[in-house]
This record gives sequence, C-alpha cells and structure tokens, in this order.
Amino acid sequence: MSIWLIIISTLLTLAVFCIKNFGYFIVNFRWFFAIFFLMPASLIYNIFYYVRSRLVFKLNTAPTRHHEKVLNVQRQVLEWNKSGKQTLMCTGRPGWKAMSIREARYKLIYTNIHVDLMDVLEVDAEKKSVRVEPLVSMGQVTTHLNSIGWTLPIVPELDDLTIGCGLVMGVGIESSSHKYGLMQHLLISAEIVLSDGSLIKCSQLENSDLFNALPWSHGTLGFLVAAELRIIPAKRYVRIHYKPVHSFKEIIETFTKESQNQKNDFVEGLVFSPNDAVIMTGTLTDSLGHDQLNEIGRYYKPWFYKHVETLLNNGPKVECIPLRQYYHRHTKGLFWQMQDIIPFGNNPIFRYIFGWMVPPKVSFLKLTQNKSIKDLYEKHQIIQDMLLPITTLPQALEFFQKELEIYPLWLCPFILFDGSGFVHPKTKEDQLYVDIGAYGAPKIKNYNSYEALRKLEKFVLCNNGFQMLYADSYLTREEFHQMFDHRQYEQMRAKYKCENAFPEVYDKVNRKARS
Ligand SMILES: *[C@@H]1O[C@H](CO)[C@@H](O)[C@H](O)[C@H]1NC(C)=O
Ligand SMILES: *[C@@H]1O[C@H](CO)[C@@H](O)[C@H](O)[C@H]1NC(C)=O
Repeated sequence: MSIWLIIISTLLTLAVFCIKNFGYFIVNFRWFFAIFFLMPASLIYNIFYYVRSRLVFKLNTAPTRHHEKVLNVQRQVLEWNKSGKQTLMCTGRPGWKAMSIREARYKLIYTNIHVDLMDVLEVDAEKKSVRVEPLVSMGQVTTHLNSIGWTLPIVPELDDLTIGCGLVMGVGIESSSHKYGLMQHLLISAEIVLSDGSLIKCSQLENSDLFNALPWSHGTLGFLVAAELRIIPAKRYVRIHYKPVHSFKEIIETFTKESQNQKNDFVEGLVFSPNDAVIMTGTLTDSLGHDQLNEIGRYYKPWFYKHVETLLNNGPKVECIPLRQYYHRHTKGLFWQMQDIIPFGNNPIFRYIFGWMVPPKVSFLKLTQNKSIKDLYEKHQIIQDMLLPITTLPQALEFFQKELEIYPLWLCPFILFDGSGFVHPKTKEDQLYVDIGAYGAPKIKNYNSYEALRKLEKFVLCNNGFQMLYADSYLTREEFHQMFDHRQYEQMRAKYKCENAFPEVYDKVNRKARS
C-alpha cells in the first residue's frame, strides 16, 4: 500500500515546489493547480483510506489493536514525564491534516504525542451507541453506520472532520441540532489519558466533573483515546421542503417557527440577500411516496446551494434525497467556498468531466498557500461561525449586513442544553440558538478584516453568543473568559495536574497561536 503514499507525497511535493517557484501563477490559476494536483492527490488519499478502513473493518483488527495503541500513548506521556516535562504536550497530528483553517504554531515547540487512533471500535445496537477512536473521520463513521441501518443523530457534513479531536473536544453542529444539540451532547462516555499517563473513563455517572469539562477543551485536559456516542436508526431518505421567503420579517419568522417545531428532523436556512432566503425542513422517511427523488450527491449534480438558489423563484418544492447524500449535501461545494477555488466548478461541463474528483481535501488546499497568499485571503475573506440565541437573529442579520454584506449566509438552529462546562446558556435553562456561518469575501466597501471581526466578536459577546474556535479569533484573554465559562475547566485543570502538561484553550486557539 505504500505505493499510494508515495504517489500522494510526490504530487504534494510537486505542488509545494510549484508554489515556491511559480507563486504568481498559482495565485491567479489556483484552479489549474486544484484540478491537476490536489484533486488527484485527494482522490488517491481517499481511496487509500477507504480501502484501509474496509480492511480494518473486515478483519476486525481495530478492537484488538486499540489496547496496544492506547498503551503507546500512555508510554509517550510517561516518557515525557521522565524526561523532566521539558515542554507542554499536544497531539502530533500534522497541521495540514487538520481541518481548521489555521496551522498551529505551538505544534513546533510542544512535545508531540502521537495518537494513532482512527477506527470504529464497536456498534452496540442494544445500548444504541457506537464506540470510536478519536481520529475516526465523519465519512468513515457514516459509511459504517449507514450500511448497518444506524446513523449518528448529528452528522456534520464534511467527510474529513474527525469525531474526537474536532467535533467532541471542539464543536460539531448540523441541521438536526435543533433536536439533539451539539456533537458534545451525543457523548455517552470518553476515555482519556491524563497527564500522569493513567487512563480514566468518564461519563455522566463516573468522573462526571471531568466529563462535563471535556467539550471545547481541545485536548487540554488529557488525550482522548475513545469516545462512545449515541446512535439512532437510519432511514433511507430525507424528505425536504424548500420554502422560499422574500422579506426580512418572513425570514426571521419562518426560520424561528420551524426551528421550534420538533416534528422537523432537519432545519436549515440559506440567506441569499437581506430579504431573500430559502428555509429548508426535512423529515426522515423510508418511502418516496409521490415525491421526486433527487440524488444530489451524484458527481455531475450541481452544488447544493446553487440548486437551492434556483428555488428562490421556483419554489416551494418537496423532494427526497438519499440520507447519506443529504448529510453531505454541502461537501461538493465546501458550502460555497469551491467557488473561490474553481470558479467554473459548477459548470455542467466541468462537473461531468471532473466532478467525481471534487472536492479536494481542505487539508491539501492549505498546502497551496504560502504566507503572502494566506495574508491575502485573510484580508479579503472571512470564515466564521457565530453561535447566538435565536431571539437575537434579527439584530444579528442586520449586523452581518451592515458590517460584512456577505451572502449566502448559513443558518442552522440548535438547542443549547443547560450544563456546567465551557458552553451553556447564561440563563439556567435549555435555550434555542442559531449558528450563523459566513464563508467567503464580504462585499462591504473598505472591508477591513481585523476591524470587522473585532466588531463581530464584540457583538457576539454582548449577546451571550459563542464563537466557534476552528477559525480566527482575536478575542482577548478577558473576553475569552467572559464568553466561555472556565469555572469547571479550571477545577479540572488543577485536579488533573494540567498546568505544566497542556496549554490552556486560549493559548491554542487565539490568532497569535496560529499562523
Ligand atoms: C508567495 O507567493 C506569492 C505569489 O506570487 C509571491 O509573490 C510571494 O513572494 C510568495 N511569498 C513567500 C513568503 O514565499
Ligand atoms: C513523573 O516524574 C516524577 C519525577 O521524575 C516522578 O517522581 C513521578 O513518579 C513520575 N510520574 C509517573 C506517573 O511516573
């Protein structure tokens, strides 16, 4: 199998060589690069990992090797202790492999602990749970679960997102979150290697204080080595209703009403202008009934948001989408970011010829950016998800219009359960929130990315909101503490001796820590 790895690394090395030497060309012809280097490399990579995970599944090697791999993590931590705790620790996953848009600078100076845990361990139909290793990807889990009739209640769409490090220790959200909450709320139990090398299991019943402090802790309390998550029975299709709305008031009202309606299994909104949006609601179903089947996941099908946009004027409409294709509806267009990488990517000719290789891996895309290209993007683009109480949606949309003027905007409702960890409602009861996602180039005149983002962060802070931490954050340390409840986290940092072992969350996620 190493031949695959050689081909991938050759392509990527070529890519890096080209960037160094033909930088100008790449900035202006990024698509060329994407089509001829990144997409083939991504394809081979995906095939390699697909074959690997099928083999692991067939031979059922993951459960037996799991113990050994956990011991290996423990051994590395003990070695770190023995060598006098020279630096703090972090996971040794190369930055380019991670999905967040920034590379972590701290990886260079900290002791890298290699956590080579990336498989599904077991599905327990009786308990309705799946036990997975932390680096298992969303794509692996949905393929595995859906093939045996189960699914995660929340499936963030990009295949490459990792469950443990990314979604549970960070944050994960999807259009079913108005029912089930964030990914963290699916967690039944977690197994953690602590700073003294010991393995501890935690859940709502044992070590619940640690359990509640884990979400959003980004690996700063210990190394996650296994996670057990709730699952639900899958159905074959999602019956989706597209409802175009054409006034500001209607956007707010329809979206809020649908988000509160528990009969909807899925709710999301795409806002195309201050007064135009399509609000989508979906239900799980096994039968098509009289509705049309639309296999939006097929390689030649248009990007999902483009499809939705056509319904602004041609809707309302009802259609059925196969479940897995629904989950991954935004994958091909990377929401709408593919537009900036391959401007003609949604052209039918392109789709029929190259569509099956789309999208290139986000982690590979990052390789094509040298410092000046990154700075350029940073100056003209924004990639942010802001989580706000749904009652503030009118002010928030006005604010986004005034400061950014960026469309489409992604609206995804979620229920934020009361709790004691990093993120919970300020009021002591469950509260409906909305994730507003802005990805792309703001159209506002004289856009200044730093100033705009600072204003946005302050708006979110004032309105009891939260910033997702995979993207740039300029929050000061005080603001960060104001936004995220550190009380339980700090108790756990003290209890499990994290001070000289792991950085604080703030030091991992603020802008200065990432390049
Ligand atoms: C990155 O590429 C750009 C594109 O032309 C080039 O002008 C610049 O010098 C490069 N920057 C670095 C730091 O290599
Ligand atoms: C860590 O190192 C210290 C000092 O070398 C030692 O006293 C302690 O027992 C070690 N801890 C573990 C868990 O091995």
